[in-house]
Amino acid sequence: MAIIDPHSLNPLLSSPHRLKLGVFGVNVSSGCSMTDMPGTIKVEWDESVRIAQAAEAAGIDAMVPVARWRGMGGDINFNHRNFDPFTWAAGLAAVTSKIGLFATIHIPTIHPVRAAKEVATIDHISGGRFCLNMVAGWNEREIGMFGEPQKGHDDRYDVADDWVSLCKELWTREGTFDYDGPYFNSPSAYSEPKPLQRPNPVLMSAGNSPRGQHFAAKHTDLNFVVAPSIEKAGEAAASVKKLARDDYNRDIQVFGQAYIVCRETEAEAQEFVDHYVNEKGDWDGVRNLLDVLIPNSQSALGAGWESMAFNMIAGYGALPLVGTKEQIVEGMLAFADAGIDGITLSWVDYEAGLAQFKDELLPLMVQAGLREY
Ligand SMILES: Cc1cc2nc3c(=O)[nH]c(=O)nc-3n(C[C@H](O)[C@H](O)[C@H](O)COP(=O)(O)O)c2cc1C
Repeated sequence: MAIIDPHSLNPLLSSPHRLKLGVFGVNVSSGCSMTDMPGTIKVEWDESVRIAQAAEAAGIDAMVPVARWRGMGGDINFNHRNFDPFTWAAGLAAVTSKIGLFATIHIPTIHPVRAAKEVATIDHISGGRFCLNMVAGWNEREIGMFGEPQKGHDDRYDVADDWVSLCKELWTREGTFDYDGPYFNSPSAYSEPKPLQRPNPVLMSAGNSPRGQHFAAKHTDLNFVVAPSIEKAGEAAASVKKLARDDYNRDIQVFGQAYIVCRETEAEAQEFVDHYVNEKGDWDGVRNLLDVLIPNSQSALGAGWESMAFNMIAGYGALPLVGTKEQIVEGMLAFADAGIDGITLSWVDYEAGLAQFKDELLPLMVQAGLREY
């Protein structure tokens, strides 16, 4: 009898499409747009179910939630309501049948013995569709809620390395074993059942610093890149893929991020972005967000601050796919041509956006060779 690699169960890694697609940010209030517009994410369970089912019906490969514990203050307290990504993914597994389901985990908030068990359990509930996005932490105000100050940048990735190393052993080793790492030890470690996907469910991380890229190259199947242009995203993708191949003898895929505004004309699409960012955007909230990343961001960045803030409000730092349906598919083609394996998508109004995606964008993507169906 042929042996089936259970990893191939996962819809994301086994996807036949040239450009894979995820939907990002459906578990957090306002989704990925820092704006006070009607139709943004409210964080209600029936809303999550509707959107995941619509994404599945549109052939989208995965749902990718955000790990968040509090909002960004300002006018709308962006993301202040947020569903826990693990239980969210488990719930969605029960009401979908094909789409990949991520949880996003803040590494310092959960012991790997417990996390490995939750991952294996959701992999069974979902029939091998589960994926884990690992975040080492960046926002002191969130991680501080757990009672310990956040570690320094590279130390956080050292913890993450140890954390996922123990998880990987729990997912693969039979019987009991002693684990003694620099940060975690687990005497007589044991975990059954193993996940359906072997050796482990699809792993992703979004680290973009040199240390973050090493972590991704060593441990993950997918790395998320953040870049100011598609061209730069392609360069970052090539660099992390080369690192994985040269230093760890592994192949990894790379995802980018995009937000979509699709209208009859390019001018209408730009007008809508201008409205929801400049008139309805949460400029106090975005200042708070950027100040976490760069202290006193506005004076530190000077003239560059406004465009960075604009981009954060418009799509949480994602690249714009704004224009007519033809222009949007051209942009998607540019991602694929730059060597990006997939992108996550967001909209101000996800339900309207997904309906339009299925009716108008998907047929053009098929014509362009980006999607098989
Ligand atoms: C697409 C994407 C998704 C991310 N999701 C989360 C998240 O859900 N929660 C979180 O705290 N950080 C998230 N991050 C932040 C990253 O995990 C990471 O901290 C950031 O990219 C900086 O990495 P670096 O310090 O290695 O440069 C995300 C980043 C990207 C690009």
